[in-house]
Amino acid sequence: MKHFFKAMSVAVAVLMGVAMVGQTADAQCKEKHDKKIVVGFSQIGAESAWRAANTESIQKEAEKRKDCIELKFSDAQQKQENQIKAIRSFIAQGVDVIAFSPVVESGWEPVLKEAKDAGIPVILSDRAVDVSDDTLWVTFMGSDFVEEGRRTAQWLVDNYEKVKRADKTMDKVRIVELQGTVGSAPANDRFAGFREVLKDHPNFEIVKTQSADFTRAGGKQVMEAFLKAEGGDKIDVVYGHNDDSALGAIQAIEEAGLKPGKDIIIVSIDAVRGAFEAMIEGKLNATIECSPLLGPQLFDAVEDLALGKELPKRIVTEEGVFPAEVAKEVLPQRTY
Ligand code: AHR
Repeated sequence: MKHFFKAMSVAVAVLMGVAMVGQTADAQCKEKHDKKIVVGFSQIGAESAWRAANTESIQKEAEKRKDCIELKFSDAQQKQENQIKAIRSFIAQGVDVIAFSPVVESGWEPVLKEAKDAGIPVILSDRAVDVSDDTLWVTFMGSDFVEEGRRTAQWLVDNYEKVKRADKTMDKVRIVELQGTVGSAPANDRFAGFREVLKDHPNFEIVKTQSADFTRAGGKQVMEAFLKAEGGDKIDVVYGHNDDSALGAIQAIEEAGLKPGKDIIIVSIDAVRGAFEAMIEGKLNATIECSPLLGPQLFDAVEDLALGKELPKRIVTEEGVFPAEVAKEVLPQRTY
């Protein structure tokens, strides 16, 4: 008898699976849930092309599943206090799930406790938080930022001959770093991962490091200051924690009468279309991928939560490294 029920439930599951093939995400979603799942999402802001693509991915995916997902989207304009306000408002509205991309790592404990006390599960999207109690969030989905920092440094090490050619000191390769937003997970982790690899390569030296806040304007301004400061004529490499800051630095380098990508090697993280265009123009040397397309993953997790499924604590996004040589071929396939 037990076997009969088991066989029947397998058959039903198979039939449901067959019926779902060819259905839209919305129809599938509607079939699985008897009521709409209300999701409150607090986005950091619109600091970069990456962030714009991330917002689009989340909003488009929610729209695709609109018969079973209701998205309440809030833009914090780069301010943690606005994110905390948004999360409190989601709690007050009694949403089913809260998701957010934390602008910085620290300071989340109280508001996350409030969400937990209200029985609302929290998903961390893109960036992690630094809290001692990891039951305050259910899953963290996004990139391995430390690995991205390591990959960037490894690209420099592997391309030492090319990088060295730009080296005006001829002994050490002198790197300037454009950090991301102070206190943010990607800035902290990309800083650490980069150094982890370079510590075994004394022929590379980080001579200057400053936050460019993940923006183009920030990258331009900080690079202008680096170029004007003492030793500004001996910069061999720019390491941008994201493409936008590197693109800003490229502008500053050109305005200073130098050739980015040749006189100064430029490497950065994200792999947005603007980086590929700059590589095709010979102004950027490599970009390390950080995918913003988290929408489908996010709403799959939301749906799983609504069905009572347990989620893995960490969902890592798979990513690659793109040197300038492949830019032309890869650009048409880039969606952001
Ligand atoms: O958290 C991901 C980072 O945030 C991206 O690398 C950067 O471009 C964005 O602003």
